Amino acid sequence: MEQADAASQNATPGQARVTASVYSSHVPAIGAAVDHGKTGDDYWAPMFKGFEPSKDWMKKNTPDVIFLVYNDHATNFDLSVIPTFAIGTAAEFEPADEGYGPRPVPKVKGHPRLASHIAQSVIQQDFDLTIVNDLKVDHGLTVPLNLMFGSPAEWPCLVIPFHVNVVQYPVPSGARCFALGQAIRKAIESYDEPLNVQIWGTGGMSHQLQGPRAGLINAEWDNAFLDRLIADPKGLSTMPHIDYVREAGSEGIELVMWLIARGAMADVAGGNAPTVAHRFFHVPASNTAVGHLILENNL
Ligand code: DHB
Ligand code: FE
Repeated sequence: MEQADAASQNATPGQARVTASVYSSHVPAIGAAVDHGKTGDDYWAPMFKGFEPSKDWMKKNTPDVIFLVYNDHATNFDLSVIPTFAIGTAAEFEPADEGYGPRPVPKVKGHPRLASHIAQSVIQQDFDLTIVNDLKVDHGLTVPLNLMFGSPAEWPCLVIPFHVNVVQYPVPSGARCFALGQAIRKAIESYDEPLNVQIWGTGGMSHQLQGPRAGLINAEWDNAFLDRLIADPKGLSTMPHIDYVREAGSEGIELVMWLIARGAMADVAGGNAPTVAHRFFHVPASNTAVGHLILENNL
């Protein structure tokens, strides 16, 4: 174990801790089902049922801050500016208008001080982040919040949005995302306030929205990905991006974001293996295979 890792393992109670990671698809039709009261429909009920244990778990494990890794879908960023990695440092983030008006969900409240600390630390660890002080958030961020919290009047914790470009080539590799997760962990655990921080990875699982293979789902591959994400994240991180695209469809590449969250877990820095608090997989939801995992750190 490197010295810095050992230091992060022995973080004192006065410092922020990464307590758990949460992984979830972010299909926009799930947001539409929530917004239009369709969660009990035959099509949607089995999918939402899979998140009932997660909502119960969240009630007992509500963090102070979620570091939420997602991709913007050309709503805030478009082809004029394409940051590979961008951190939201603002105090508030409004839901974006994705074509049908902004979703009727609460504003997302940020943590500018922690976000700035993470930016400082991660950039000094040689990852070039774009700092975004004015950011609107789309379904990539708001749908996972609904899945884990339902539809409260206010989100029950602060959220730091972290955008990854998985829309416009070139996209970052799984290995880079996994290493970035480790840097984010060091950044969070060197913050001088005893905050409970969760890191979420969103997007995926297999889906392709365009071309002759539109509608592609690969449940077997997705479940093997979940197995490896739990037990062999380092090995999984070496998988080249072309394997994601071939096996999980062109939008399956969103899954590299899950490796950022996984890289921030304690075992990757030499600590204890995480506990699987919940695992769920469901097909279909719109064009996408829905995958979900909660991993708790054993600190
Ligand atoms: C769908 C899934 C996505 O991840 C997305 O960003 C847009 C659409 C879908 O399944 O329809
Ligand atoms: Fe998406």
